[in-house]
Amino acid sequence: MKQLLSEQQLREGVRRLADEINTYYQRRPLVIVGVLTGSVVLLADLIRLLDMPLEVGLVQANSYRGAATTPGPLSINLNLLPQIEGRNVLVVDDIFDTGHTLSGLIEQFAAHRPELLRSAVLLRKAGRVQVSLQPDHVGFEIPNEFVVGYGLDYANLYRNLPYVAALEPGEMTAVTDASPRGASSAEGPPS
Ligand code: IMP
Ligand code: MG
Repeated sequence: MKQLLSEQQLREGVRRLADEINTYYQRRPLVIVGVLTGSVVLLADLIRLLDMPLEVGLVQANSYRGAATTPGPLSINLNLLPQIEGRNVLVVDDIFDTGHTLSGLIEQFAAHRPELLRSAVLLRKAGRVQVSLQPDHVGFEIPNEFVVGYGLDYANLYRNLPYVAALEPGEMTAVTDASPRGASSAEGPPS
């Protein structure tokens, strides 16, 4: 695994994002909607730097990647979406890759008639976009590599890394070896 963004760089990038968002909304009330599960780390850090009256909601979006790195059909669950009609809404996701997730979300949110609908992502991957939409706020541009950490997963692992790292090709199939199976502990959970 090769580190792409350190904890320090992430802190500075999230600060920049927050400054942009604060400047844009000028303390007007905002509903920020995080996309589960990848955005949770960003969401937790970002909202503490925002200075407007803020509501937080969540939605779930899944492109059935599983352990694969190419997206499948998109499924969206809006059960946890708060009332957004007539509101300023900012959708927050971990990464803008092909753009299908954000574009699908924005399309579905628009049906709920928000006053203004914008988006922010931590990362934007170079050379992958397949839609006309672009996020309004971007923390970092990254090369076309599969990245994990700071909320981003591979096969649901690595979200807890405090930095962002690119997986090497060999690491994309070896995830089942990622847990310390050999390490037996009387007190630890089963591995
Ligand atoms: P998109 O729909 O292709 O833009 O992909 C967006 C979603 O795919 C993100 O919300 C992530 O969950 C996931 N994704 C895309 N690229 C990566 C990556 O490099 N690492 C981890 N997840 C990714
Ligand atoms: Mg995601």
